[in-house]
Amino acid sequence: MKNAWWREIVELRDDVVGFDSSIVMHPNTWVASGHVAAFHDKLVDCRNCKHRFRADHLASLEKCPDCGMTGTLTEPRDFNLMMKTQVGPLEDTASTTYLRPETAQGIFVNFKNIYQSARKRPPFGIAQIGKSFRNEITPGNFTFRVREFEQAELEYFVPDDGNDMACYETWVAARKKWYSDYGVRADRLRFYELKPEERPHYARAGTDVEYLFPWGWGELESIAHRGTYDLDAHMKLSGKDLTYFDEATKSKYTPILIESSAGMDRTTLTVLIDAYDSETIVDDAGKESKRTVLRFHPKIAPVQVGIFPLARNKAELVERARALELELRPHFRTTYDEGNVGQLYRRQDEIGTPFCIMVDYDSFDDHKVTVRDRDSMRQERVAFDALAGYLRERL
Ligand code: GAP
Repeated sequence: MKNAWWREIVELRDDVVGFDSSIVMHPNTWVASGHVAAFHDKLVDCRNCKHRFRADHLASLEKCPDCGMTGTLTEPRDFNLMMKTQVGPLEDTASTTYLRPETAQGIFVNFKNIYQSARKRPPFGIAQIGKSFRNEITPGNFTFRVREFEQAELEYFVPDDGNDMACYETWVAARKKWYSDYGVRADRLRFYELKPEERPHYARAGTDVEYLFPWGWGELESIAHRGTYDLDAHMKLSGKDLTYFDEATKSKYTPILIESSAGMDRTTLTVLIDAYDSETIVDDAGKESKRTVLRFHPKIAPVQVGIFPLARNKAELVERARALELELRPHFRTTYDEGNVGQLYRRQDEIGTPFCIMVDYDSFDDHKVTVRDRDSMRQERVAFDALAGYLRERL
């Protein structure tokens, strides 16, 4: 998913540059961004069972959902979500800093460096994929809410020339297309436009991309028009100039920011859920069995082609199959395996491999192999020299 995002957002565009900033930054970064003062969840403790809850996850503030006692819950209090750490050898307060809770701030503080060295002028974007850390009170639902996760963030800077809302809309549309291109089910995906009272005061628009998980709707990404809030905040605290100097007009201005911030762990979970299928199949003898299959979109299947010899104890078959795998490896994500034919296919079905290739004795006479399609389970004979084209077309 990370490769797919990077390809689309950075490599296939000429107005976005890729970047990789530090995880541990100057502590004032998080003062300027507002995270020290306001990156809180409300936390409630049960005095009886000692369990902790997010106040907004509780049905009532009267009764503990774990031990069932009433009147044992504390008043909600602020709990900062940033992971604290120390820089330097002294453990005083001046050395306290935080692991980044989002990658975005690394982009903002480096904005000037980047536009000058990459010779970009707004409208242009800076993209980054990397780990972010949040001390979540209630991690859970597999990789949906974790304390260490991967964000893919695009910060797109635009001049204040009246085209900012159109640019925001263009990014919302681009992100819609991205999810559908990788096979996320349309009936489980929604783009929820935030109402003015749901947005931060400085934001002119915001859209949450949500997916219908087995436990309900959950956020995959937030897209926001953030005005000049972030660059202004860093300029104010650091005293450093982060405006853009326009050579053409000899004037400087603070660009408006459109942000797309996606969670790669959540996106991966989404495509796994959509891909998962379990079906009953009937063989030629009429025998029923269960087949578990991940119907990944071929672009994101971790293995695209499995290559096997019909028999593992026949040296010439093993040699030919191994050689074929080596030939295809630079072009596709391949794997080689050997063993019982039925089991080989099932194993690849379970990891979502779109195509399996079997090298058999006939291959030496007709120079063809059997290609099996994961979804239809249909098999077809394809000539060795037509294989790469056959697979490329279908993948
Ligand atoms: N810079 C904006 C920002 O960080 P956010 O809505 O707090 O916005 C963006 O986070 C995305 O990061 C979320 O939509 C989600 O996909 C992912 N994310 C946030 N917290 C997460 C967590 N604890 N576990 C997994 N993913 C998380």
